[in-house]
Amino acid sequence: MNLEIIILAAGQGTRMKSPLPKVLHQIAGQPMLQHVISVARDLNPSAIHVVVGHGAEEVKEAMAAETLQWVVQEQQLGTGHAVLQAMPRVDERSTVLVLYGDVPLIRLDTLQALVEKATKAPALLTAQVTDPAGYGRILRGDDDSVLGVVEHKDANQEQLLINEINTGVLAAPAADLKRYLPAVGNANSQGEYYLPDVLAMAVADDKTVAAQLATSELEVLGVNDRLQLNQVERECQLRQAQQLLRDGVSVADAARLDIRGSLHCGVDVSIDINVVIEGQVVLGDGVSIGPNCVLKNVTIADGASVHAMSHLEDARVGAKANVGPYARLRPGTVLAEGARVGNFVETKKANIGAGSKVNHLSYIGDCDMGAGVNVGAGTITCNYDGVNKHKTSLGDDVFVGSNSTLVAPLAVADGGFIGAGSTVTKAVGEKELAVSRAKQRNILGWQRPGKDSGEA
Ligand code: UD1
Ligand code: CA
Repeated sequence: MNLEIIILAAGQGTRMKSPLPKVLHQIAGQPMLQHVISVARDLNPSAIHVVVGHGAEEVKEAMAAETLQWVVQEQQLGTGHAVLQAMPRVDERSTVLVLYGDVPLIRLDTLQALVEKATKAPALLTAQVTDPAGYGRILRGDDDSVLGVVEHKDANQEQLLINEINTGVLAAPAADLKRYLPAVGNANSQGEYYLPDVLAMAVADDKTVAAQLATSELEVLGVNDRLQLNQVERECQLRQAQQLLRDGVSVADAARLDIRGSLHCGVDVSIDINVVIEGQVVLGDGVSIGPNCVLKNVTIADGASVHAMSHLEDARVGAKANVGPYARLRPGTVLAEGARVGNFVETKKANIGAGSKVNHLSYIGDCDMGAGVNVGAGTITCNYDGVNKHKTSLGDDVFVGSNSTLVAPLAVADGGFIGAGSTVTKAVGEKELAVSRAKQRNILGWQRPGKDSGEA
């Protein structure tokens, strides 16, 4: 069977109260439409047609990486009209599946089952809901066969009591759509061309319309406002966290992990509460992530730990390294095996060598550091002269005393030793000691100031 998919995405989404086209609002760090395209791709269709209208150019631009057939629907005259715009591009022999750019939680297995039912006649996806208000109701005959859909606004009192609703998702032989859609009229309360009208037409042609029931109400929830966007986001996040648990990752609380991108985990990874993952994140075997950490585009090797409240972006952390609590690794930070970056330390474009330690209150930027280095508390690499950035390089086994300022460009050779409180501006040779600070004077017989008499 040859499958072609039509995704409707022309609506404005007024209730989002945003200039961004509705289908570009994000779920789990990706535009809603991207989720729909991904599940569509998994069905291996020969083509994906996307019907756009409001914000068409913006939508096309956002999906530039995808191979899609764009169909512009200038005026939104109804779902039937929208699908009809795409039909000239669809092969007569295909089966067509209609999806919606604002229904992003739809599941692959549900769609597979639906498409299988639509080889000879249209089939639609329905759902049982507690509150059917606003939805089209499914009309069934005495033998339970589907007769068609009546829209809420066109329904009578009796029909309004039906709580099996039309999800909008539908599959049909292309030939049926090509035959019935041009005959669909707009003589209804909304003056729209309704896609579900093709169902009654098929029934009138003695075809049997099949119905597939969605697994849950949430699966087919369409996003019209921020409340629904949030509902869908939470469900999507929960699904991701539960999948990690099934895959053997220790997630402290499935309701308190957000993955806004992709996360790949080795074995025995543990993730504490309130962790946010963005972009592409890879965690090796035995990695543990403490509470309240943000990881964006980072790779963390086996056995490393990131402790509470740390923020890592575009960084690589070596095996058995230790980060935080309260560490900030900015872009270009690379920690070698067993390195340690402790609390209130900020790093940027910094290579921190194997086993080297920057444990407290430091800024290390534009720095190459060898192995076995110890950087004392409060050390600052002065990498910026107000115009240009300069580099600091520290050889193996360098010791930097606390509260030192390393004025770049600067090189300290292997084994160099810097006395605490020094401002270092000149290169330090191998195993040399550099001290640059005021000499201490001790004054004998010095009197502490007494209390003021109170006179001005
Ligand atoms: C539609 C169904 C209804 C179903 C409900 C499920 C019709 C006539 N009714 O109603 O039976 O219960 O979905 O949510 O199909 N769109 C376009 N171009 C258009 C019109 C719509 O692209 O000309 C897109 C919209 O962007 C939207 C989707 O199709 O994403 C649904 O359109 P909308 O008019 O909101 O349909 P409903 O009234 O919700
Ligand atoms: Ca409508």
